[in-house]
Amino acid sequence: MTLNILFAANETGWAEYEPHLRHWLAEAGIEAQLGPDLGPPSEIDYIVYAPSSEVQDFRPYSRLKAVLNLWAGVEDVVGNPTLQVPLARMVDNGLTEGMVEWVVGHVLRYHLDIDHALANQSGEWLPKVPPLARNRPVTVLGLGALGSACAKALAALNFPVTGWSRSAKSVAGVSCLSGPEGLEQALARAQILVLLLPLTPGTENMLNAPHIDQLPEGCCILNPGRGPLIDDTALLEALDSGHVGHATLDVFRTEPLPAEHPYWSHPRVTVTPHIASATRAETASKVIVDNIRRGEQGKPFLHVVDRQRGY
Ligand SMILES: NC(=O)c1ccc[n+]([C@@H]2O[C@H](COP(=O)([O-])OP(=O)(O)OC[C@H]3O[C@@H](n4cnc5c(N)ncnc54)[C@H](OP(=O)(O)O)[C@@H]3O)[C@@H](O)[C@H]2O)c1
Repeated sequence: MTLNILFAANETGWAEYEPHLRHWLAEAGIEAQLGPDLGPPSEIDYIVYAPSSEVQDFRPYSRLKAVLNLWAGVEDVVGNPTLQVPLARMVDNGLTEGMVEWVVGHVLRYHLDIDHALANQSGEWLPKVPPLARNRPVTVLGLGALGSACAKALAALNFPVTGWSRSAKSVAGVSCLSGPEGLEQALARAQILVLLLPLTPGTENMLNAPHIDQLPEGCCILNPGRGPLIDDTALLEALDSGHVGHATLDVFRTEPLPAEHPYWSHPRVTVTPHIASATRAETASKVIVDNIRRGEQGKPFLHVVDRQRGY
Protein backbone atom coordinates (compact mmCIF):
# COMPACT_ATOMS: atom_id res chain seq x y z
CA MET A 1 0.00 0.00 0.00
CA THR A 2 1.21 3.49 -0.83
CA LEU A 3 1.10 5.89 2.08
CA ASN A 4 0.23 9.56 1.74
CA ILE A 5 2.50 11.71 3.87
CA LEU A 6 1.68 15.42 3.97
CA PHE A 7 4.55 17.79 4.69
CA ALA A 8 2.74 20.62 6.48
CA ALA A 9 5.50 23.15 7.16
CA ASN A 10 6.90 26.04 5.14
CA GLU A 11 8.37 25.73 1.63
CA THR A 12 11.97 26.21 2.68
CA GLY A 13 11.51 23.31 5.05
CA TRP A 14 10.21 21.09 2.25
CA ALA A 15 13.20 21.68 -0.04
CA GLU A 16 15.52 20.87 2.84
CA TYR A 17 13.64 17.79 4.04
CA GLU A 18 12.53 16.19 0.76
CA PRO A 19 15.77 14.38 -0.20
CA HIS A 20 16.33 13.09 3.34
CA LEU A 21 12.74 11.89 3.81
CA ARG A 22 12.79 10.15 0.40
CA HIS A 23 16.12 8.55 1.25
CA TRP A 24 14.95 7.12 4.58
CA LEU A 25 11.58 6.03 3.19
CA ALA A 26 13.42 4.09 0.47
CA GLU A 27 15.78 2.59 3.05
CA ALA A 28 12.77 1.47 5.09
CA GLY A 29 11.07 0.02 2.01
CA ILE A 30 8.06 2.29 2.49
CA GLU A 31 6.18 3.34 -0.65
CA ALA A 32 4.79 6.80 -0.18
CA GLN A 33 3.47 9.88 -1.88
CA LEU A 34 5.08 12.76 -0.09
CA GLY A 35 4.81 16.52 -0.34
CA PRO A 36 3.21 19.78 0.75
CA ASP A 37 0.30 19.38 -1.73
CA LEU A 38 -1.26 15.94 -1.72
CA GLY A 39 -4.80 14.84 -2.54
CA PRO A 40 -7.79 15.34 -0.28
CA PRO A 41 -7.25 15.43 3.51
CA SER A 42 -9.34 12.28 3.88
CA GLU A 43 -6.55 10.31 2.12
CA ILE A 44 -3.62 11.47 4.26
CA ASP A 45 -1.98 8.85 6.53
CA TYR A 46 0.65 10.94 8.32
CA ILE A 47 1.36 14.65 8.69
CA VAL A 48 4.94 15.84 9.14
CA TYR A 49 4.08 19.00 10.99
CA ALA A 50 5.25 22.41 12.07
CA PRO A 51 2.80 24.09 14.48
CA SER A 52 3.08 27.30 12.41
CA SER A 53 1.61 25.39 9.43
CA GLU A 54 -1.68 26.40 7.82
CA VAL A 55 -3.11 23.05 8.96
CA GLN A 56 -4.89 23.86 12.21
CA ASP A 57 -8.11 21.88 11.81
CA PHE A 58 -7.35 18.17 11.73
CA ARG A 59 -11.00 17.03 11.44
CA PRO A 60 -10.94 16.56 7.62
CA TYR A 61 -7.97 14.18 7.99
CA SER A 62 -10.23 11.24 8.71
CA ARG A 63 -7.70 8.43 8.16
CA LEU A 64 -4.75 10.16 9.84
CA LYS A 65 -2.59 7.82 11.94
CA ALA A 66 -0.23 10.31 13.60
CA VAL A 67 1.08 13.87 13.52
CA LEU A 68 4.88 13.93 13.56
CA ASN A 69 6.03 17.29 14.90
CA LEU A 70 9.20 18.82 13.49
CA TRP A 71 9.77 20.82 16.67
CA ALA A 72 10.66 19.72 20.20
CA GLY A 73 8.19 22.26 21.66
CA VAL A 74 4.52 21.38 21.21
CA GLU A 75 2.77 24.14 23.17
CA ASP A 76 1.09 25.51 20.02
CA VAL A 77 -0.48 22.19 18.99
CA VAL A 78 -0.88 20.11 22.15
CA GLY A 79 -4.19 21.74 23.13
CA ASN A 80 -5.73 21.54 19.63
CA PRO A 81 -9.09 19.79 20.24
CA THR A 82 -9.37 18.73 16.58
CA LEU A 83 -6.25 16.58 16.91
CA GLN A 84 -7.38 13.13 18.05
CA VAL A 85 -4.50 10.92 16.85
CA PRO A 86 -1.07 10.49 18.51
CA LEU A 87 1.19 13.55 18.39
CA ALA A 88 4.92 12.75 18.40
CA ARG A 89 7.34 15.52 19.29
CA MET A 90 10.82 15.84 17.80
CA VAL A 91 13.73 14.20 19.56
CA ASP A 92 16.63 14.58 17.14
CA ASN A 93 20.34 14.02 17.73
CA GLY A 94 21.19 17.04 15.59
CA LEU A 95 18.85 19.27 17.60
CA THR A 96 20.32 17.96 20.84
CA GLU A 97 23.92 18.46 19.69
CA GLY A 98 23.16 22.04 18.71
CA MET A 99 21.57 22.78 22.07
CA VAL A 100 24.50 21.25 23.96
CA GLU A 101 26.91 23.45 22.00
CA TRP A 102 24.87 26.62 22.63
CA VAL A 103 24.46 25.94 26.35
CA VAL A 104 28.06 24.85 26.95
CA GLY A 105 29.32 27.83 24.95
CA HIS A 106 27.35 30.36 26.98
CA VAL A 107 28.08 28.65 30.30
CA LEU A 108 31.82 28.85 29.50
CA ARG A 109 31.37 32.46 28.41
CA TYR A 110 29.93 33.30 31.85
CA HIS A 111 32.37 31.07 33.70
CA LEU A 112 35.43 32.63 32.05
CA ASP A 113 33.90 36.15 32.04
CA ILE A 114 34.56 36.41 28.32
CA ASP A 115 32.25 39.43 27.99
CA HIS A 116 34.51 41.34 30.37
CA ALA A 117 37.59 40.43 28.33
CA LEU A 118 35.89 41.56 25.12
CA ALA A 119 34.76 44.86 26.64
CA ASN A 120 38.07 45.61 28.35
CA GLN A 121 40.42 46.63 25.57
CA SER A 122 41.39 49.90 27.26
CA GLY A 123 44.92 48.99 28.32
CA GLU A 124 43.83 48.19 31.87
CA TRP A 125 45.78 45.20 33.28
CA LEU A 126 43.43 43.28 35.62
CA PRO A 127 44.85 39.82 36.30
CA LYS A 128 41.67 38.15 37.57
CA VAL A 129 42.01 34.38 37.19
CA PRO A 130 38.63 32.62 36.82
CA PRO A 131 37.84 29.78 39.24
CA LEU A 132 37.91 26.22 37.99
CA ALA A 133 34.69 24.75 36.63
CA ARG A 134 34.62 22.41 39.64
CA ASN A 135 33.90 25.50 41.77
CA ARG A 136 31.11 26.90 39.56
CA PRO A 137 27.77 25.19 40.30
CA VAL A 138 25.36 25.08 37.39
CA THR A 139 21.68 24.17 37.61
CA VAL A 140 19.62 22.89 34.69
CA LEU A 141 15.83 23.05 35.05
CA GLY A 142 14.37 20.30 32.87
CA LEU A 143 16.12 16.96 32.42
CA GLY A 144 14.50 15.77 29.21
CA ALA A 145 16.20 15.04 25.90
CA LEU A 146 17.90 18.45 25.83
CA GLY A 147 18.37 19.26 29.52
CA SER A 148 19.94 15.90 30.38
CA ALA A 149 22.34 16.10 27.40
CA CYS A 150 23.42 19.62 28.44
CA ALA A 151 23.75 18.58 32.09
CA LYS A 152 25.96 15.61 31.13
CA ALA A 153 28.16 17.75 28.87
CA LEU A 154 28.64 20.34 31.63
CA ALA A 155 29.37 17.63 34.21
CA ALA A 156 32.01 16.22 31.82
CA LEU A 157 33.73 19.63 32.01
CA ASN A 158 33.77 19.29 35.83
CA PHE A 159 30.99 21.78 36.61
CA PRO A 160 29.03 20.57 39.66
CA VAL A 161 25.66 20.17 37.93
CA THR A 162 22.26 20.01 39.60
CA GLY A 163 19.29 19.03 37.47
CA TRP A 164 15.63 19.39 38.27
CA SER A 165 12.62 17.68 36.71
CA ARG A 166 8.98 16.87 37.45
CA SER A 167 9.62 13.19 38.18
CA ALA A 168 12.70 11.77 39.96
CA LYS A 169 15.54 11.08 37.51
CA SER A 170 19.01 9.62 37.42
CA VAL A 171 21.58 11.21 35.10
CA ALA A 172 25.23 10.10 35.37
CA GLY A 173 27.39 12.73 37.09
CA VAL A 174 24.42 15.03 37.81
CA SER A 175 22.76 15.67 41.16
CA CYS A 176 19.10 15.12 40.25
CA LEU A 177 16.29 16.76 42.20
CA SER A 178 12.54 16.97 41.73
CA GLY A 179 9.47 18.47 43.36
CA PRO A 180 9.09 21.87 45.08
CA GLU A 181 11.80 21.22 47.72
CA GLY A 182 14.14 20.07 45.00
CA LEU A 183 13.51 23.28 43.11
CA GLU A 184 14.41 25.38 46.15
CA GLN A 185 17.74 23.55 46.49
CA ALA A 186 18.42 23.62 42.76
CA LEU A 187 17.89 27.38 42.62
CA ALA A 188 19.92 28.08 45.77
CA ARG A 189 22.97 26.31 44.26
CA ALA A 190 22.85 27.96 40.82
CA GLN A 191 25.70 30.32 39.98
CA ILE A 192 24.57 29.69 36.41
CA LEU A 193 20.96 28.65 35.73
CA VAL A 194 19.81 27.02 32.47
CA LEU A 195 16.09 26.80 31.63
CA LEU A 196 15.23 23.81 29.46
CA LEU A 197 11.65 23.18 30.48
CA PRO A 198 8.79 22.88 28.01
CA LEU A 199 6.08 25.54 28.12
CA THR A 200 3.01 24.16 29.89
CA PRO A 201 0.50 25.61 32.37
CA GLY A 202 2.75 24.09 35.09
CA THR A 203 5.95 25.82 33.92
CA GLU A 204 4.70 29.24 32.78
CA ASN A 205 6.35 31.97 34.90
CA MET A 206 8.42 29.29 36.65
CA LEU A 207 11.14 31.90 37.05
CA ASN A 208 9.08 34.44 38.99
CA ALA A 209 10.09 36.91 41.74
CA PRO A 210 10.03 34.39 44.65
CA HIS A 211 12.12 31.89 42.68
CA ILE A 212 14.53 34.58 41.47
CA ASP A 213 14.99 35.60 45.15
CA GLN A 214 16.18 32.06 45.88
CA LEU A 215 19.06 32.37 43.38
CA PRO A 216 22.50 33.36 44.71
CA GLU A 217 23.45 37.01 44.27
CA GLY A 218 24.90 37.61 40.79
CA CYS A 219 23.54 34.37 39.27
CA CYS A 220 23.62 34.29 35.46
CA ILE A 221 20.65 32.89 33.55
CA LEU A 222 20.41 31.15 30.19
CA ASN A 223 16.96 30.66 28.69
CA PRO A 224 16.91 28.50 25.56
CA GLY A 225 13.60 26.91 26.71
CA ARG A 226 10.59 29.16 26.06
CA GLY A 227 10.01 32.87 26.76
CA PRO A 228 6.99 32.54 29.06
CA LEU A 229 9.00 30.39 31.51
CA ILE A 230 10.21 33.77 32.81
CA ASP A 231 8.21 36.54 34.46
CA ASP A 232 9.87 39.33 32.45
CA THR A 233 9.00 42.09 34.92
CA ALA A 234 10.53 40.16 37.81
CA LEU A 235 13.67 39.38 35.80
CA LEU A 236 14.13 43.00 34.72
CA GLU A 237 13.84 44.13 38.35
CA ALA A 238 16.41 41.55 39.43
CA LEU A 239 18.75 42.59 36.60
CA ASP A 240 18.35 46.28 37.54
CA SER A 241 19.22 45.54 41.18
CA GLY A 242 22.14 43.28 40.20
CA HIS A 243 20.65 40.31 42.05
CA VAL A 244 20.74 38.58 38.67
CA GLY A 245 24.16 39.30 37.17
CA HIS A 246 23.30 38.66 33.53
CA ALA A 247 20.77 36.88 31.35
CA THR A 248 21.22 35.37 27.89
CA LEU A 249 17.79 34.94 26.40
CA ASP A 250 17.09 33.03 23.20
CA VAL A 251 13.29 32.82 23.43
CA PHE A 252 10.60 35.39 24.22
CA ARG A 253 6.89 35.81 24.79
CA THR A 254 6.70 37.69 21.50
CA GLU A 255 9.04 36.66 18.68
CA PRO A 256 10.69 38.45 17.00
CA LEU A 257 11.40 40.40 20.19
CA PRO A 258 9.85 43.87 19.58
CA ALA A 259 12.42 46.62 18.89
CA GLU A 260 11.24 48.64 21.91
CA HIS A 261 11.55 45.75 24.38
CA PRO A 262 13.81 46.65 27.34
CA TYR A 263 15.78 43.43 26.92
CA TRP A 264 17.41 44.79 23.75
CA SER A 265 19.08 47.70 25.53
CA HIS A 266 19.61 46.25 29.00
CA PRO A 267 23.34 46.18 29.83
CA ARG A 268 22.96 42.87 31.63
CA VAL A 269 21.07 41.07 28.86
CA THR A 270 22.23 39.27 25.72
CA VAL A 271 19.50 38.55 23.18
CA THR A 272 19.87 35.73 20.67
CA PRO A 273 17.07 35.31 18.08
CA HIS A 274 15.74 31.80 18.85
CA ILE A 275 18.81 30.13 17.38
CA ALA A 276 19.95 28.04 20.35
CA SER A 277 19.23 24.99 18.24
CA ALA A 278 16.99 23.71 15.47
CA THR A 279 15.79 20.40 14.13
CA ARG A 280 18.31 19.21 11.51
CA ALA A 281 16.67 17.78 8.36
CA GLU A 282 19.25 15.04 7.89
CA THR A 283 18.91 13.44 11.31
CA ALA A 284 15.25 14.36 11.95
CA SER A 285 14.08 12.73 8.70
CA LYS A 286 15.30 9.37 9.96
CA VAL A 287 13.40 9.88 13.24
CA ILE A 288 10.22 10.67 11.29
CA VAL A 289 10.56 7.65 8.99
CA ASP A 290 11.36 5.38 11.96
CA ASN A 291 8.10 6.48 13.54
CA ILE A 292 6.12 5.89 10.32
CA ARG A 293 7.67 2.42 10.06
CA ARG A 294 6.66 1.70 13.65
CA GLY A 295 3.13 2.87 12.95
CA GLU A 296 2.88 0.61 9.91
CA GLN A 297 4.20 -2.34 11.94
CA GLY A 298 1.57 -1.73 14.63
CA LYS A 299 4.22 -0.70 17.19
CA PRO A 300 3.70 2.26 19.54
CA PHE A 301 5.05 5.57 18.21
CA LEU A 302 8.15 7.03 19.83
CA HIS A 303 8.18 10.40 21.65
CA VAL A 304 4.40 10.62 21.96
CA VAL A 305 3.23 13.74 23.74
CA ASP A 306 1.19 13.27 26.90
CA ARG A 307 -1.72 15.60 26.14
CA GLN A 308 -2.65 15.93 29.81
CA ARG A 309 0.86 16.96 30.91
CA GLY A 310 1.28 19.13 27.83
CA TYR A 311 4.70 17.85 26.72
N1 LIG B 1 15.60 27.68 21.77
C1 LIG B 1 15.58 26.68 20.93
O1 LIG B 1 16.16 26.79 19.85
C2 LIG B 1 14.90 25.41 21.30
C3 LIG B 1 15.08 24.27 20.48
C4 LIG B 1 14.47 23.08 20.86
C5 LIG B 1 13.70 23.01 22.02
N2 LIG B 1 13.55 24.13 22.79
C6 LIG B 1 12.76 24.05 24.03
O2 LIG B 1 13.34 23.10 24.91
C7 LIG B 1 12.27 22.44 25.60
C8 LIG B 1 12.75 21.15 26.23
O3 LIG B 1 12.96 20.18 25.22
P1 LIG B 1 13.21 18.64 25.56
O4 LIG B 1 13.28 17.90 24.28
O5 LIG B 1 14.34 18.48 26.52
O6 LIG B 1 11.85 18.30 26.34
P2 LIG B 1 11.46 16.99 27.16
O7 LIG B 1 12.33 15.84 26.73
O8 LIG B 1 9.99 16.84 27.08
O9 LIG B 1 11.89 17.33 28.65
C9 LIG B 1 11.20 18.23 29.45
C10 LIG B 1 11.79 18.21 30.85
O10 LIG B 1 11.11 19.20 31.63
C11 LIG B 1 10.60 18.59 32.82
N3 LIG B 1 9.35 19.23 33.23
C12 LIG B 1 8.23 19.42 32.51
N4 LIG B 1 7.28 20.03 33.25
C13 LIG B 1 7.83 20.22 34.47
C14 LIG B 1 7.36 20.78 35.67
N5 LIG B 1 6.12 21.29 35.78
N6 LIG B 1 8.17 20.80 36.73
C15 LIG B 1 9.43 20.29 36.63
N7 LIG B 1 9.95 19.73 35.51
C16 LIG B 1 9.15 19.70 34.45
C17 LIG B 1 10.35 17.15 32.42
O11 LIG B 1 10.28 16.37 33.61
P3 LIG B 1 10.11 14.77 33.54
O12 LIG B 1 11.45 14.28 33.05
O13 LIG B 1 9.84 14.38 34.93
O14 LIG B 1 9.01 14.51 32.55
C18 LIG B 1 11.58 16.87 31.55
O15 LIG B 1 12.69 16.56 32.34
C19 LIG B 1 11.22 22.28 24.51
O16 LIG B 1 9.94 22.07 25.06
C20 LIG B 1 11.31 23.60 23.78
O17 LIG B 1 10.44 24.53 24.39
C21 LIG B 1 14.12 25.31 22.44
